[in-house]
This record gives sequence, C-alpha cells and structure tokens, in this order.
Amino acid sequence: MTLTAKIEVNGTTVELPVVEGTEKELGIDISTLRGKTGAITMDWGYGNTGSAESGITFLDGELGILRYRGYPIEQLAESSNFLEVSYLLYHGELPTSAQLDVFKSKIVYHTLVHEDMRSFFNAFPKDAHPMAVLSSAVCALSTYYQQGDESTQEGLELSMFRLMGKLPTIAAWTYKKSLGHPYIYPDNDLNYCENFLKMMFSLPTENYVPHPDIAKALDVLLILHADHEQNCSTSTVRMVGSSKANLFASISAGIAALWGPLHGGANQAVLEMLEEVVASGKSTKDFINSVKDKDSSSRLMGFGHRVYKNFDPRAKIIKVFADRVLNLLGVDDPMLEVAKELEETALRDEYFVSRKLYPNVDFYSGIIYRALGIPVNFFTVMFAIGRLPGWIAHWKEMNAHPKNRIGRPRQIYTGETERDFIQLNDR
Ligand code: ACO
Repeated sequence: MTLTAKIEVNGTTVELPVVEGTEKELGIDISTLRGKTGAITMDWGYGNTGSAESGITFLDGELGILRYRGYPIEQLAESSNFLEVSYLLYHGELPTSAQLDVFKSKIVYHTLVHEDMRSFFNAFPKDAHPMAVLSSAVCALSTYYQQGDESTQEGLELSMFRLMGKLPTIAAWTYKKSLGHPYIYPDNDLNYCENFLKMMFSLPTENYVPHPDIAKALDVLLILHADHEQNCSTSTVRMVGSSKANLFASISAGIAALWGPLHGGANQAVLEMLEEVVASGKSTKDFINSVKDKDSSSRLMGFGHRVYKNFDPRAKIIKVFADRVLNLLGVDDPMLEVAKELEETALRDEYFVSRKLYPNVDFYSGIIYRALGIPVNFFTVMFAIGRLPGWIAHWKEMNAHPKNRIGRPRQIYTGETERDFIQLNDR
C-alpha cells in the first residue's frame, strides 16, 4: 500500500507521498509543498527533517540501537577492527580476507604526507588548537592532489585512501609541533593504531614499542565513533560536498563542525568539567544542581543527545571498557569515580529523567583517552580520526544518489520590509 499524508495550508489541502525506510521509519516528502501552497516547513536545528535516504547507519534513539550497515555496534566493537569497519562503511559489505588485505595495503601506501607540508606545521603557533590545524591541513591536502576525478570510482577511492592514510600522520604531527618534538614518520609495518601511537609518542632517540592493548583499546574507540548518520559534522560534509567541492575540502569542513563543544568537542569539555568538579571541592550533587540552574549557561557535558532519548549504546560499551582499560593499565583515576557519581546522581534526578538526558558517547571516552596518554585538547582529534570513514561513506553515498541536489535550505524572512535608502548626511 502506498502511504500518503495530507496537509492543509490556508484552505488548500495537498496530498504528499510518504517514504518508508527498511526499519519502517516514515518520512513525508514535502518537496512539492511550496510549489502547491507557497508554504515551507520550519524545523529549528533540523530535529525533524530528513535530509537524505541513507543505507549506512541505522539508529533508534528511543530503543538505544546503533547498527552500521545492519551490524550491531556491540558486535562490531567486540569482533571487528577499525579498518574492517571502514571498509564496511565505504563498500556496504564486510570484506573477504583478501579484500581487507588490499584495502589495508592501499591505506598504508598513503601514510606519508608531502614533505612541503612540514612547513605548514612549522608555521602554526605552538599552542594552536589541534582541530584548527587538522582542519586546515586536511583542506591543504586538496592543493597537493588536484588532478583526481572524484566522480569516478577510482578517483574517489584514491582520495579515500589518501585521507585514511594521512589523517593519523597529520594528527600526530600536530601534537609533535605543540611539544616542539621532531616529527615522526609513519611505520608501515605496524597496524593503524600502533603506527599512530608510535608517531604520537616516540622520539628518534629512543626505542618505542606500542603497547598492543593500548592500540586495541584505541581501535575499539575508533569503531564506536566511525559513523552516526546525519549528525552535525556529517551533515556538514554532505552539504559542502553537495556543491561538488572536493572530498578533502568537505572533510575539512566536517572537522570544523566536529570541533564545537556541543558536538565532538564535548569529550574535551567533559574532562575539563570533571577537573573543575575535583578542583572546586564541590559535591557532585551541588554540581548537578548548578547545571540545572536556568540562569547558568553550564550543562552537564557528555549528557543528553539530539537523537538518543534512552541510553546511547556507545556510552554503555565505553563505560564497561573504561573500567577494563584502566585496570589493564593499572591506572587509578579519580576522574572515573567522579564521572560515575555524576552519572548516578543525574540518573536519579527528576530534571534529567523528565528530559530523557542520558550519558552520551563522550561521557567516558575522555577518561580512556587520558589513560592512554592522549592530551585533553587532542580528544576531539581522536573523534575525527574515528569519524573519517563515516564522513567519506556519506560523501560517496550522497554523490551517487540519483536525487542528489545542492543543499540549499529556505528561510522565513523576519527583517524589515522595503524602505528607501537614506543619504549619509540625512541620518
Ligand atoms: N545538561 C543540562 N541540561 C541539559 C543538557 C545537559 N547536558 N542537555 C539538555 N539539557 C536540557 C536543556 O536545557 C533543555 O531544557 P529545557 O527544556 O528546560 O529548556 C532540554 O534539556 C532539551 O535540551 P536541548 O538543548 O533542546 O536539546 P538538544 O537536542 O537540542 O541538544 C545536546 C542536544 C546539544 C547534545 C545537549 O543535550 C547538550 O548540550 N549536551 C551537552 C553537550 C554534549 O554532551 N554534547 C555531545 C553530544 S554527542 C556528540 O555530538 C558526539
């Protein structure tokens, strides 16, 4: 049966088609509404607006479900690895072992960045925020790779391999620059996360062997961040890409969107908040009361989500994982206890219960990053490395969709009506 919806605007009734997803989600296609009635729809922050048909990630915010290409996030975190998940997101199916080997080797082939890029890192201030450097450096990649034709499968794949290979190198060099340490070149004999750890933490003067458990922990965190359907940064990547801007420029814009504290920047904000609670000597109850105060602009960072109105399934995995990783590394971090206390207090509090505010992916991830030795202002960079394959998969899907058009929302104008210009001397 074909579903339709009826809407009446100023006495005119219009019948609109309804699109149905494979998980029975319904979307009213309003693309003819303005033409038929003169009206557009208004939806602040696009909380109720579908911008795409997508086959990449399914999430149900009410039930706390997250699946990449149909595979539950819990199973992927337990049994897969980041590059396999990246292949899955990009191609839609799990790879055979031969396909995975080729995929990995092509990424590894592209881990070096152009030597001239060193001068970029040298030119940024030492205390630059790493997300600013990351976004700039990724956009700068487009100046080195101008020839590729991303409208072809081969051309897009080449850009994808370059980005997947180079982003960890760019990220690690950003960190090295902030320390004044020499840049460490990639080691293609190591796996993706081991290589990243080596570029971050080794020095040319010392022998460094990445800890396999730390690399594994990092790999799981990257899997958990790999995609999350039409979030702010992914929508940004799609929007920029819809103008046919190249993949590097689109991803650079996504990194900028991710930086904000209401999105990926929340992981840094959570750790800073926990530090503030510990330093202030406030009880967690007092702190919770302060974030409920409508006169205060502070929020309980790492809590609440635009889509999840139940537990964020990633937060559940990360909470268990935080205990495991800290035990494994023998780290006794008081921040973990403060975080658990804040969570328990908030989950019993009417304010959070009635608004369906639960811990999100960022609530515990910072504690793990800290235990792994990742600096606080670098947490969002880790998120960006994880989210990269998701952004690329969306860019690819959007450009391949037959209905793809440049993203161009409308508005309701609330400014002055027409008036005559007044000469400067008469004002
Ligand atoms: N602490 C205190 N109150 C909160 C919080 C919070 N973390 N989150 C929402 N609220 C309150 C709001 O004040 C509002 O209350 P009101 O109805 O009395 O005015 C109500 O809950 C709804 O909040 P909105 O801002 O309308 O919710 P929205 O869906 O627009 O925002 C967001 C979601 C941005 C994630 C929000 O919950 C927030 O700011 N959380 C803290 C930042 C954070 O952790 N961001 C990471 C999100 S996950 C990610 O991007 C990877």
